[in-house]
Amino acid sequence: MVGKRVINVGIDLGTSRSVISCDNGVRTYLASIVGYPKDAVSRKLLGKDIVFGDEALKHRMSLEMHRPFDKGMLKISQDLDENSHEYRKAIEAARALLKRLIEFAVEADPAGAANVLVRGVLGTPALASRKNKKAMLEIARGILDDVMYVSEPFAVAYGLGLLTNAFIVDIGAGTVDLCRMHGTMPTDEDQITTMKAGDYVDQIFYELLSKKYTEANFTLNMVKKFKEENSSISDRGDSIFIELPVKGKPIKHDVTAELRMACKAIVPDIVEGIRKLIASYDPEFQMHLKDNVILAGGGSQIVGLKKEIEDFMIEKLGYGRVTRVEEPLYAGANGALMLCKDMPDEYWHELKTGQSKVKN
Ligand SMILES: Nc1ncnc2c1ncn2[C@@H]1O[C@H](COP(=O)(O)OP(=O)(O)OP(=O)(O)O)[C@@H](O)[C@H]1O
Ligand SMILES: [Mg+2]
Repeated sequence: MVGKRVINVGIDLGTSRSVISCDNGVRTYLASIVGYPKDAVSRKLLGKDIVFGDEALKHRMSLEMHRPFDKGMLKISQDLDENSHEYRKAIEAARALLKRLIEFAVEADPAGAANVLVRGVLGTPALASRKNKKAMLEIARGILDDVMYVSEPFAVAYGLGLLTNAFIVDIGAGTVDLCRMHGTMPTDEDQITTMKAGDYVDQIFYELLSKKYTEANFTLNMVKKFKEENSSISDRGDSIFIELPVKGKPIKHDVTAELRMACKAIVPDIVEGIRKLIASYDPEFQMHLKDNVILAGGGSQIVGLKKEIEDFMIEKLGYGRVTRVEEPLYAGANGALMLCKDMPDEYWHELKTGQSKVKN
């Protein structure tokens, strides 16, 4: 790396959004969506061969859309056929997404793109399989000059300086990742991944509304957006109305009960995961974990969730104190960046011969 400036980056490639946090001050995200123009007309309309994130969503009628991490694809799914068209396409889209994020970091750097090397720490789900890890290696190959992988909840814990006596619950779109921290690198026994996360809430909300309001027209994307602005499992508060078209005319619909029910649907698996990881822990230290449950990820913004989990913990475990990170959407990437910066140079060098190193 002689002569070149090193940029450290932390990357959280999420099912819903992909976030980058860099030590040159760049911090940004893209919705994890990649669109390719469907034909010559759409290419002319858009003026480019590839479109990312919200811009892709906006022009989705003209684009072939890919969500590389949708439904656990690449990140968590166990039965990946590495030769399938679907898998290859997902890898291609994920690589394009990562490349775009790195461009944001490099373009803004005063040293200039030709004079920098990029080394990064990438988050993977707590219980990613060997196949998933292989997919992550493939995504980063040739895009980063050096790369290391860590479990997403561990990155969150590291970023918060919570290396011991803490319990992380990262509520994303595709997965909820739970991890207990006890002063060493967490192992598989310290982590649980559940599949009922933000996308599951959207699905349930969509189904409940479809059943109740058969005349109304709406899409999954519409109800997701609405959820993000109004999510709550609190019993108090005003009724919540969504405006949906019925035969083309916008009409207000009461969705208070449906939204609450959908948001609550992820709670049982989360609390069962907390219970399992605490119950199987050294009894002398269980209290420390109960006292420091930290919620992160976009789903942690559901109003009333903190209290709901606390109430459960009191009922099942006798005690519980839950807090939420200040920046739920950036916590993973921020922590990955801190790890990246803290890792000594020799270690990166060592990695060049190690398995988790991606060589150019
Ligand atoms: N205010 C909000 N209330 C409830 N849910 C929200 C809110 N804001 C975002 N979300 C949900 O959070 C999820 C996205 O969170 P996050 O960005 O942490 O996930 P991700 O990292 O992309 O997913 P994963 O970690 O599963 O790969 C989405 O399901 C989104 O709808
Ligand atoms: Mg995430």
